[in-house]
Amino acid sequence: MTTHPDYWNQLYQEETRPGWDMDRATPLVQELLGLALPLGLRPGCGLVVPGCGYGHDAAELEGQGYAVTGLDFAPLAIHGAMHRYGDRVTWTQGDWFTTKLGPWEAIFDHTCFVAMDPVRRPAYVDACAEHLQPGGFWLAALFHQVKGEGGPPHAIPMAEMRRLAEARFEVLHLAAATESHPRRAGREYLLVARKR
Ligand SMILES: C[S@@+](CC[C@H](N)C(=O)[O-])C[C@H]1O[C@@H](n2cnc3c(N)ncnc32)[C@H](O)[C@@H]1O
Repeated sequence: MTTHPDYWNQLYQEETRPGWDMDRATPLVQELLGLALPLGLRPGCGLVVPGCGYGHDAAELEGQGYAVTGLDFAPLAIHGAMHRYGDRVTWTQGDWFTTKLGPWEAIFDHTCFVAMDPVRRPAYVDACAEHLQPGGFWLAALFHQVKGEGGPPHAIPMAEMRRLAEARFEVLHLAAATESHPRRAGREYLLVARKR
């Protein structure tokens, strides 16, 4: 059950480096910031990375001056993030759907939304909106195509993503990524959305 932390914790237990872990921040950190800053994202704002895993993206964002919280409900993910990056980032073990922290000015979402069972997508969008301040930004990297079947990760067509996000957000950018990690090239797209 991907909805339960034990599912993910088991994967961290079985492999020191699970299949999704790139051992470094995604190049999409730069690409998403480059898109969002001209659209109004405040440099150095308070930002949360849901499903942060071992924390590479969170640490990269902290290095660029953002005040970052890395959140994951798998204890081994948070343990691994702390081990790698120390207390530069506020690491929090918690469930994105129920955690009551924030609100933040921005969300950086890389391989968290796409890890969700598709039936949870509307609730996930609501959770993003609830975690943000008015006018807050949701930056996300998503898959329109995945390898293998069954998931996670789960692909979502761009049009479906737009429809879902528009329930709570103004979609400012939705287009193919150009700076993906080579293993993901041609399969990712980027969302920049502002809470209504
Ligand atoms: C595919 S991994 C990606 C990890 C990291 N973003 C990366 O790219 O290396 C998905 C992560 O989301 C976490 N996760 C899944 N559902 C969650 C939830 N409801 N609340 C918090 N974390 C969750 C899992 O524990 C896992 O670490």
